[in-house]
Amino acid sequence: MGWIMMVMLSLLLWMAPPTWADTVASVGFEKAPIAYESLGYASDDGIGKRYLGREIANVIGHRGAYWLERSSRALEERPDLLIKALDLKPEMVVGDIGAGTGYFSAPMARRLDEGRVYAVDIQPEMLALMERYKAESGIENVELVLSTESDPKLPESVLDLALMVDAYHEFEYPYEMMQGIVTALKPGGLAVLAEYRGEDRLSTIKPHHKMSQRQAKKEMAAVGLDWVKTNESLPEQHLMFFQKP
Ligand SMILES: C[S@@+](CC[C@H](N)C(=O)[O-])C[C@H]1O[C@@H](n2cnc3c(N)ncnc32)[C@H](O)[C@@H]1O
Repeated sequence: MGWIMMVMLSLLLWMAPPTWADTVASVGFEKAPIAYESLGYASDDGIGKRYLGREIANVIGHRGAYWLERSSRALEERPDLLIKALDLKPEMVVGDIGAGTGYFSAPMARRLDEGRVYAVDIQPEMLALMERYKAESGIENVELVLSTESDPKLPESVLDLALMVDAYHEFEYPYEMMQGIVTALKPGGLAVLAEYRGEDRLSTIKPHHKMSQRQAKKEMAAVGLDWVKTNESLPEQHLMFFQKP
């Protein structure tokens, strides 16, 4: 009887869907306790790699910098409302992760008289644009950080707030990046995500470049962050606040 059970159990295990170990092996990464899945194809705006049920979006290259700086953006996205909702204090240290051209780094830095901004990006060309703007405008309290796809390259426990505007959905290693960001946050510090509303079916934003609140909460819970609130004052984006315990 015992061996029949053993055979049945082996058969069941053999027929089971791919395990975490299989999936990790298929993408060749061994550290994440949460699996990445290789889809075997990539959507038009995705990279063919799935994390917690979401296909990761492709990165907006530096040739798209003009799009980040377009004049209509102020009306379309209301960055003024976004920054107001952050409730910045002059002494705060803020990480702008996936900073791009520094569209948010610069106005935040101006509000942080005694504090500073770490502007983090994986594209040196984006940081070069920010460097030029820094020099032209005389902003001194922005530190440029060239990160990698899986490491924000920030010191430990320095940030009061980590802002990610239209960036998190592009992280190729979201779990590892968020672990680095959580480590860089002070206890009680906030990770804030601005993401086009994934629930909005009428939105013209490409499907993998937006996120639902449900998905964002799931992914932040995976790195131990607690959801605090969502500000819905922006025209098309959720502004979601998560806290490091
Ligand atoms: C759509 S742009 C948004 C830029 C900026 N936050 C804004 O709102 O203007 C996303 C940026 O995230 C950067 N990015 C993507 N993956 C990253 C990662 N793992 N670490 C840091 N930056 C990343 C890209 O290089 C790009 O500059």
